Amino acid sequence: MIKSFIENLKNKKRKIIVVGSANVDIVAKVPRLPKEGESFRGESLSIVYGGKGANQAVSLARLGSQVQFICCVGKDYFGKSMKNGFKNEGISVKTVKETSETFSGTALIFVDNEGKNSIVVIAGANHELKPDDVIKQEKIFQKGDVFLTQLELLPETIEASLIQAKKNGLITIVDAGPPRNISPQIFPYIDVISPNETETEFLTGKMPVKSKDFRWCAEKLLQMGARSVVLKLGSRGCYYYDGNNEFYSPGYKVVAVDTTAAGDAFTSALSFAWGQSDLPQVLQFANAVGALACTKFGAQPSMPYFNEVLKFLKVNKK
Ligand code: RIB
Repeated sequence: MIKSFIENLKNKKRKIIVVGSANVDIVAKVPRLPKEGESFRGESLSIVYGGKGANQAVSLARLGSQVQFICCVGKDYFGKSMKNGFKNEGISVKTVKETSETFSGTALIFVDNEGKNSIVVIAGANHELKPDDVIKQEKIFQKGDVFLTQLELLPETIEASLIQAKKNGLITIVDAGPPRNISPQIFPYIDVISPNETETEFLTGKMPVKSKDFRWCAEKLLQMGARSVVLKLGSRGCYYYDGNNEFYSPGYKVVAVDTTAAGDAFTSALSFAWGQSDLPQVLQFANAVGALACTKFGAQPSMPYFNEVLKFLKVNKK
């Protein structure tokens, strides 16, 4: 990887605003994912911090950007401990709303021996983050460079924050997970949409299996109004298309311990590096961050630090 790219990433600390979910992940390690009606013994139980938004905010903080995270947690034990977790990562909690209306967001996760997972999310406090909570943070948006969100909040909150971000001239990046409809009026506010394989199928009607499908799916998303597309293809890497330029970046081979939040790590790295260098390098960097996140257990615990990524890129030269 070119030295100047690394120097750019290190020195140019861009302000990234993340609007998204914060969950407590209750994770059962299981020999295999359960089938319907089945009951068998699991191997261990862990409680870790998660939530797509919080995972991305933590990943960005560990990569070295200035993160402003807007989210909502419950006024409960989990909410308090998530806030402490953010503080420990150097993330300000001034924009973390607390609600007594409901409990903190929770995810129930199974992880099997190959690192594959099944996730059920109970939104809880995440659905108490309302459009007005974001609109009143306009001053923060005015100072931002990049805006990143996912689809785990109320659609109206996501929409209000995207509009606010574009109004203030930020680059807008949307992680299209979990699979949810995006209103046609909102697509034109998206500079980069990044769905994984199942989210791509949900949005376009086609699973990106073969390389000819990549372009077809990306074209569909462009027709919906997004300005560019980065498909996350799991261990196969990623694919970029903007109507003119097309690029496929192969993934890194790693031994997967837990793939939970690998996609979150990828998209946060994309936001971190977006526009800082040539596209192939940006995509390669995001692939590396996503791959590294698979090598450790847990959502936030698996987010790599910048130096770990550099080391990985040195060892795994392409
Ligand atoms: O992408 C992984 C995340 O999805 C987990 O941390 C879980 O909380 C759900 O939001």
